[in-house]
Order: sequence, then structure tokens, then C-alpha cells
Amino acid sequence: MSITLLAIESSCDETSAAVCTDGAIRSNIIASQEVHAQYGGVVPELASRAHMQHIVPVVNKAMQEAGVSLQELDGVAFTAAPGLIGALLVGSTFAQSLALALHKPLIAVHHMQAHVLANLIPERKPSFPFLCLTVSGGHTQLVVCHSATQLEVIGETIDDAAGEAFDKSAKLLGLPYPGGPLVDRYAAEGDPLRFRFPEPQIPGLDFSFSGLKTAILYFIQNAGTANIYKETFRATEEEKVAFIRENLADICASIQHRIISILLNKLKKAVKQTGIRQVCIAGGVSANRGLRAALENTGRQQGWETFIPPFEYCTDNAGMIAITAYYKYLAGEFSPLGTVPTARAAW
Ligand code: KG4
Ligand code: ZN
Repeated sequence: MSITLLAIESSCDETSAAVCTDGAIRSNIIASQEVHAQYGGVVPELASRAHMQHIVPVVNKAMQEAGVSLQELDGVAFTAAPGLIGALLVGSTFAQSLALALHKPLIAVHHMQAHVLANLIPERKPSFPFLCLTVSGGHTQLVVCHSATQLEVIGETIDDAAGEAFDKSAKLLGLPYPGGPLVDRYAAEGDPLRFRFPEPQIPGLDFSFSGLKTAILYFIQNAGTANIYKETFRATEEEKVAFIRENLADICASIQHRIISILLNKLKKAVKQTGIRQVCIAGGVSANRGLRAALENTGRQQGWETFIPPFEYCTDNAGMIAITAYYKYLAGEFSPLGTVPTARAAW
């Protein structure tokens, strides 16, 4: 018997719906919310409103593209946590109403687990147990995936997430939100070794990015003229702007280079500690071309088998919710109607 599921993602600023049959994604529609760019970050109330506007057309389009009718669905899945509570409530209420109306089972999915399991969407997938570095706008985690329903966090950030490190650096450079993809674009033309930013010495498998952010702040305040660790504020506004304009590609490449080295050094440590050589990345930052290339290179050097989800399954999408829901369906992990989404959720 085949299993067809509709999945809905609404945890942050993407409204997405996907249909999958037996683990194969048949449609994955994503509506991004442009409204936040002018505010330099996601505005929760505006996100909720935009989800309400998008959810019906996005679900209709996902069903249409998959060629599936509501009656053919075997269950409805949704992101239950973590995320912006108002945003989560839109997807959750919609999914639960639909499940109730159709008398179909409901499946609540953890957004960060779904990012990891996006690696099970392509035909070439890792086998269990595998290691995953999840790098998104709100999280940076090292996860051991024992099975599709048994995931264990073995390291995480103690302050900013990797995506925040990209976005906050971009903001300091005067780039619009979200800055990660722009840093990626400028970095492609720059020299990654031109400027040296510090690598934090955090014990174990945890990460820290707040020191890097401060180093970049001082570096820009000094327009690259002084020691980047010193808070000396030598440059005028005009000097800063001119310095950034003339060196943007090299600055972006150097920042990206340091973020990637922080991530990959911890990943190497995790491989050593766990002995697991099937290595994946996931989350919005795994769309970064520098990180993708660095993972492949390191994998070749270290003898790992590496996996990266296709671009559309890296940033927030319902395809990853659908694949996670499929494995939960097989394991009989259903959720009762009335399940309440939460902004922060234990793993
Ligand atoms: O996973 P995601 O879509 O949303 C969260 O769950 O947070 O991740 C969004 C993050 C943002 O910080 C964004 O700047 C970053 O992923 N990002 C990138 C790239 N594409 C998205 N960062 C660096 N390079 C990229 N190409
Ligand atoms: Zn995400």
C-alpha cells in the first residue's frame, strides 16, 4: 500500500507545502516573504499575516502540481516546533483543520529534525548511522542520526547560529537581510586569505560565533587599518563606506572562510569522536557554495562519504517536513488533534 502525505511548513518566513508518496517528493511549493527585507530581519507579526495570505494558494498549488486530490491523502503533516509562535500557529491550525475534516491522521514534525532528514530525499542517501551538521538561521547543531526517528544532538552553538553570523556580518557591511546569500555571492570573487578573523577556542563539539561578529565590527570601525581585536574606532563614516566598497569581495570571502573553518574543524572532531564517516550538511547555510565545496574537499581528504541536499531542500521547505512525516508514519508516530505548537522544543 502506498502512502501519500501533505506537509506544511510555516515556522519562519517561508510558507511551504509539499506532497510526497512513499518518500518521493511530488511537489514542493515555497512562497518567500519579501516584506521583511525593509526591516533588516523577520518581523514576527508580519510573518504570521503573510502565512495567512499564502497558505491556501500554496497548498492548492502543491496538490495540483502533484496531481493528488484531498481524498487521496493518507495524512497531514506540519511543523510543530521550533519557530515563531504566530507563524507556527498558522500552519498548525490549517493542518489540523484539514486532518479533522478529512478524518486523516496528523503528524507533528520537529523543524530541525526535518532539516537533517532532507538528506534522505535524493536517491543517493546516507545510511544509518550518519552525522549531520545542521546550519540554519537560528541553529547550529551536530547531530547523530541513528535512524529516521532517533536523532541525537552532540554539539551546538552557545551563542549565535552560523546563519546569524552570515546575516549579522552582512548587516555590518551594509547589505540587506538576509545577507547570507549575498556574502556567498561576493565571496566567490574575493580572496579568502586577505583578512584574518579569529577562530574561537570552544571545548568539545560546541560552537561560538559571537566573537567573530565582534571582530568584524571592530575591523570595520577601523576600516581595516588597525588590529581587528582592538576597539579603537579610528575610521570616519566615509572611510568605512569607502573601505567596504573597495574590498567587499575580499571581506566577504575572508568572513565566509572563517565561518567555514569553524564549522569544518568541529565536524572533523565529531567524526573522530563518533567514528561515523557518513557525513551530511543541512539547513539554510548548507546552500552556501563555499561550504558545499569545502565539505566535498574535506570529505575527499579524510575519506568520508559526504551528502548535501539539493538547494531547494536546504533553506526552509515543506519537502523536508514531508520526508520526516513519511518515516514517522511508518513508525506509527501520530499526533492527536489539539497538538499545540511551541516556539522552542526539546529535541
Ligand atoms: O534553514 P533556514 O532557511 O531557516 C531557518 O530555519 O533558520 O536558514 C536561513 C539562513 C539565513 O541565515 C540565511 O542567510 C542563510 O540561511 N543562508 C545562507 C545562504 N543561503 C541561506 N548563508 C550563506 N550562504 C548562502 N548561500
Ligand atoms: Zn530552517
